[in-house]
Amino acid sequence: MNGCIPSLLPLVLLILFLSQLSKATSVDFVQCLERYANNSTSISQVTYTPDNSSYTAVLQFSIRNLRHASLPDSQKPVVIVTPVDETQIQMVVNCSRRHGLQIRTRSGGHDFEGLSYRTTSNISFVLLDMINIRSVNVDLANATAWVESGATIGELYYAISQTSATHAFPAGVWCNVGVGGLISGGGYGMLRRKYGLAADNVIDARMVDVNGRILNRTSMGEDLFWAIRGGGGSSFGVIISWKIKLVQVPAIVTVFTVDKTLEQNATGILHKWQSVAPSVDKELDIRIQGTCVLSNTSKREDKKTIRLTFMSLFLGRIDTLLPLMQISFPELGLTRENCLEMSWIQSVLFFTSLPPGASPSVLTNRTLLPKFATKAKSSYLKGIWELMLSRDPGTTIVMLTPYGGRMSEISESQIPFPHRAGNLYMIYIGVFWAGDTQQALNWIRNLYNYLNPYVLNSPRSSYVNYNDLDLGINNLQGPTSYQQASIWGKKYFKDNFDRLVRVKFSADPTNFFRHEQSIPPIPL
Ligand SMILES: Cc1cc2nc3c(=O)[nH]c(=O)nc-3n(C[C@H](O)[C@H](O)[C@H](O)COP(=O)(O)OP(=O)(O)OC[C@H]3O[C@@H](n4cnc5c(N)ncnc54)[C@H](O)[C@@H]3O)c2cc1C
Ligand SMILES: *[C@@H]1O[C@H](CO)[C@@H](O)[C@H](O)[C@H]1NC(C)=O
Ligand SMILES: *[C@@H]1O[C@H](CO)[C@@H](O)[C@H](O)[C@H]1NC(C)=O
Ligand SMILES: *[C@@H]1O[C@H](CO)[C@@H](O)[C@H](O)[C@H]1NC(C)=O
Ligand SMILES: *[C@@H]1O[C@H](CO)[C@@H](O)[C@H](O)[C@H]1NC(C)=O
Ligand SMILES: *[C@@H]1O[C@H](CO)[C@@H](O)[C@H](O)[C@H]1NC(C)=O
Ligand SMILES: *[C@@H]1O[C@H](CO)[C@@H](O)[C@H](O)[C@H]1NC(C)=O
Ligand SMILES: *[C@@H]1O[C@H](CO)[C@@H](O)[C@H](O)[C@H]1NC(C)=O
Ligand SMILES: *[C@@H]1O[C@H](CO)[C@@H](O)[C@H](O)[C@H]1NC(C)=O
Ligand SMILES: *[C@@H]1O[C@H](CO)[C@@H](O)[C@H](O)[C@H]1NC(C)=O
Ligand SMILES: *[C@@H]1O[C@H](CO)[C@@H](O)[C@H](O)[C@H]1NC(C)=O
Repeated sequence: MNGCIPSLLPLVLLILFLSQLSKATSVDFVQCLERYANNSTSISQVTYTPDNSSYTAVLQFSIRNLRHASLPDSQKPVVIVTPVDETQIQMVVNCSRRHGLQIRTRSGGHDFEGLSYRTTSNISFVLLDMINIRSVNVDLANATAWVESGATIGELYYAISQTSATHAFPAGVWCNVGVGGLISGGGYGMLRRKYGLAADNVIDARMVDVNGRILNRTSMGEDLFWAIRGGGGSSFGVIISWKIKLVQVPAIVTVFTVDKTLEQNATGILHKWQSVAPSVDKELDIRIQGTCVLSNTSKREDKKTIRLTFMSLFLGRIDTLLPLMQISFPELGLTRENCLEMSWIQSVLFFTSLPPGASPSVLTNRTLLPKFATKAKSSYLKGIWELMLSRDPGTTIVMLTPYGGRMSEISESQIPFPHRAGNLYMIYIGVFWAGDTQQALNWIRNLYNYLNPYVLNSPRSSYVNYNDLDLGINNLQGPTSYQQASIWGKKYFKDNFDRLVRVKFSADPTNFFRHEQSIPPIPL
């Protein structure tokens, strides 16, 4: 055993040296912040180094995926700053650059790969946590709002509902997701068939660029403004806030959920759904959530079955919905008893599985929804049931989200999000686990490969907000090649990838804003 010590010694010294080095850099960084602040007390009150007793709590608060809850030190930030105003964000950018630190910007912390707060490499970086930058200002007269990027979509929805019952915004379903990440990658929810993506409804933005300047739509120019609405904000700068266009919803909407198991002809009904859901009226959104459950009617020995839950929002009343369903989708057997009428904000609660009578203010609770360990893949289907039946009930999920409607009317190049006409629906597969991580990861990779023949290929497309490092990563220490980055870049952005590369080259030629799957700056 003793023989190991001499050979380990240089490595230990190297690690010690490197950790001292990054410590020195972070001390310089903190001093830089204090030097440039006009009030050094206020900046030091929002700066956390690893020796600070609050560091871990601040880091953990917005880690929403338990897969990344226990990070090795080499993946953690050397400093966390939680700015309270725009000037402090500029200072973080200016001082990080000056002292050779990279930046990760975090809003809601839902990134599937945790890229907003960790690195897969051992680079030194500052975590710029936008948690205190989260006000929402609704201008009802103009049907617009400015929403700061650290707000959650629940905070946004709640603020809108406090000013009007007939205005809304087409963003996501899970109320704890951050506006910073969701909108900069596209952002879809139950209103997408009527109004498109969240990013389709952004009309201005404020951001801090690589030079520490604050830009708006006019001063950043249309190319950069195009790129940050779906191309992922973290390749281009720090988004401070979005100006969004509010959309109209009726004072009363209708929701329903209908369950069908395999024994109740779920497969046959799903088949019909595939042609109906993307083409039916824009006012009607019927998503499907599939899970493996135990059922006493199952014909299998282990009593497992697949249950499909058809979850729907209709922008209108029951009396209009029922005849529409009778004509277009009678196989589902929808009855008046399955339906509930409510306000739009109550429907948000309903799809969050909260009691419809709950106060909408719960949507502002940033820890309302549970954290879990998950890995997900997306694709734009058949026979996946057997694979789901092979795992424990409740540990896998398939979500089928129909597109069509407004989604197909917008061109593929309008914003970087390219999955428009021709994409009938998106498939999202998720796996959750408490125990064997490797087994769960193997399962989902296996399922992804299994789906190959059934989904859009060449290249197989994916949604950047469901990012997946299995597709490949950049070289974080040095330059990344266009060929390498286009492997995942073309899946996320198709032909828009090249334009993103050009915008990146002009906005951030030194590649300061970078991460495992950021857009590389290359002159094309
Ligand atoms: C449980 C769950 C439910 C989801 N539901 C939906 C849904 O209904 N619809 C949908 O479209 N997507 C959904 N998503 C995906 C979600 O949109 C993405 O994970 C999104 O990136 C999360 O944004 P965030 O701010 O919470 O994440 P973060 O982890 O904070 O950030 C995600 C990425 O955006 C960057 N970023 C964050 N803030 C800024 C900023 N201010 N400036 C520049 N870059 C920034 C980060 O650096 C990181 O690269 C869901 C994800 C989860 C985990
Ligand atoms: C950091 O990463 C680089 C590149 O992966 C590697 O060469 C180096 O040895 C690593 N250093 C430590 C201390 O792990
Ligand atoms: C100085 O502080 C004030 C208020 O505290 C702030 O509005 C201003 O932007 C700051 N300016 C600089 C350069 O830090
Ligand atoms: C500096 O900021 C701190 C904390 O925000 C505040 O208490 C103090 O009054 C400020 N000092 C000046 C001179 O503005
Ligand atoms: C930790 O950091 C916060 C914010 O900078 C500061 O207010 C607090 O005093 C620090 N605590 C310790 C123990 O250093
Ligand atoms: C917003 O509405 C007000 C009046 O309601 C109007 O004066 C103002 O110009 C509008 N602003 C914008 C940006 O449209
Ligand atoms: C950051 O640097 C830019 C110039 O590169 C400057 O305009 C800005 O005032 C600086 N901001 C702060 C807060 O240091
Ligand atoms: C955008 O920024 C420019 C330059 O700072 C400013 O003159 C202009 O008024 C801003 N535009 C809007 C709409 O805020
Ligand atoms: C299952 O549903 C399909 C499509 O609606 C239908 O054609 C078929 O007859 C149904 N089968 C049974 C057994 O009900
Ligand atoms: C099957 O389960 C349902 C509820 O899940 C229950 O109502 C029913 O009595 C059960 N039937 C048998 C035969 O156990
Ligand atoms: C937020 O929700 C969580 C989970 O339901 C709950 O434990 C917590 O008390 C809530 N916080 C507030 C401030 O209501």
